[in-house]
Amino acid sequence: MDTLFFSLLLLFPSLSLLLFFIHSSRFTQRSRRLPPGNSGLPLIGETLQLIAAYKTENPEPFIDQRVARFGTIFTTHIFGERTVFSADPETNRFIVQNEGRLFESSYPGSISNLLGKHSLLLMRGNLHKRMHSLTMSFANSSILRDHLLLDIDRLVRLNLDSWTGRVLLMEEAKKITFELTVKQLMSFDPCEWTEKLRKEYMLVIEGFFSIPLPLLSPTYRRAIKARGKVVKALRLVVRERRREVIMKKDMLAALLEEDGGGGGGGGGGLSEEEIVDFMLALLVAGYETTSTIMTLAVKFLTETPLALAQLKEEHEAILKAKKVGSESEAVEWDHYNKSMPFTQCVVNETLRVANIISGVFRRTIADVNVKGYTIPKGWKVFVSFRAVHMDQQHFKDARTFNPWRWQDQNMITNMSGLGANNNNTYAPFGGGPRRCPGSDLARAEISVFLHHLVTRFSWVPAEDDKLVFFPTTRTQKRYPIIVKRIQRHSSS
Ligand code: HEM
Repeated sequence: MDTLFFSLLLLFPSLSLLLFFIHSSRFTQRSRRLPPGNSGLPLIGETLQLIAAYKTENPEPFIDQRVARFGTIFTTHIFGERTVFSADPETNRFIVQNEGRLFESSYPGSISNLLGKHSLLLMRGNLHKRMHSLTMSFANSSILRDHLLLDIDRLVRLNLDSWTGRVLLMEEAKKITFELTVKQLMSFDPCEWTEKLRKEYMLVIEGFFSIPLPLLSPTYRRAIKARGKVVKALRLVVRERRREVIMKKDMLAALLEEDGGGGGGGGGGLSEEEIVDFMLALLVAGYETTSTIMTLAVKFLTETPLALAQLKEEHEAILKAKKVGSESEAVEWDHYNKSMPFTQCVVNETLRVANIISGVFRRTIADVNVKGYTIPKGWKVFVSFRAVHMDQQHFKDARTFNPWRWQDQNMITNMSGLGANNNNTYAPFGGGPRRCPGSDLARAEISVFLHHLVTRFSWVPAEDDKLVFFPTTRTQKRYPIIVKRIQRHSSS
């Protein structure tokens, strides 16, 4: 039979050529198989479906339906490009860990223009490595213990002092996180100047979600103008700082020390433009994210009275344990580090359910094989942390806020990066070389805020408010609440 087959091949060379082609094209198809999926409509692809889903309280069906049909790695077409979505924990880890080798970060034009090319989020290679670790060194736990916690505590209390009646929680939380980041970056306490800067920042951030074409989008035009004003203000600060004799101990001082004479490039130092872009982006990165998580923690707690009661108990116990006669209301390092285990469960669970950064975009810099598929060079990839956080296979009752689920994890804070925990399922701060350098700082800010909130106030929502996920995770009405101050006779 075999002999007959081969003789036929010899007799009909054209047949053998044909078989060769069929075989080799099957082979190529197999080794270059794209993840399955839908391309949607011409040009817009599935963008409208994605936006419609994320504008509601329940965006999950967009991913659920595609995962059910195609599996946890699928192709779609959004925001003008074919994009591979990963809802698979192992693949997510593989992608973020291979930053710079197989993938690189990729932001929409509106974001990269407004952040500036020297921001950490857009840096690459060795400079990125150096600046990422410099950022970490200004937000790690020893810096927090030694002085940042004190600033956080003071600024949170200062803000809460003025609260009465109806409070727009999202706005108040943003003010707190902005002031904290300005303090950490350049040692300024809140004043008229910081408030003016914040107003310009809000315009810059609005521009992130607009079309990056000045002629078509007034929001983008306003954002570019506001960016110009922020740059001018920060530039003045950098110049004044260079003239000062006594060095402050803040991030700007560290950036100036890196400066090596302001030459940028050549001597390995940073130019004025680089320092300004870097600071501008750091203010963006820490401001919106942390304040949203603060607000949503309060929303989820309000809707889960048992969790709120347990949190209050934890913080009342901290007040009681303070030395007799101590007038200080300040949260100290030991309180934060040792006496807030349930608070950390609340922070973890809020990060899991709310997913302020629901995932990150990357672009392939080579053909990449994952799980039997090939993602061609130059393609966009979306690493969806949210899809994994919301997956019932990885988290029991995944779509319910349940802070108690974290109680049997012994080291919560070490678990929040891909690669840091065994199953790679929990990644609110991303992973790999771009893992969030502000994660410890964010946790401390949220915890101290919750401490002062629950020990000083009771509150009720002022009206119904809905959580939506597009263009960012936020509540539609900025979560208005009515606060009532708790009377304490022993202190004051
Ligand atoms: C709850 C609050 C926060 C969340 C959920 C969060 C989340 C994230 C995530 C997921 C990334 C990874 C981005 C990527 O891989 O492309 C990231 C990066 C970053 N985060 Fe955060 N972040 C938070 C707070 C902060 C704070 C307070 C700071 C201030 C120091 C900060 C500074 C940054 C910076 C500079 C990057 C870019 C890192 C790089 O590209 O190397 N973040 N953040």
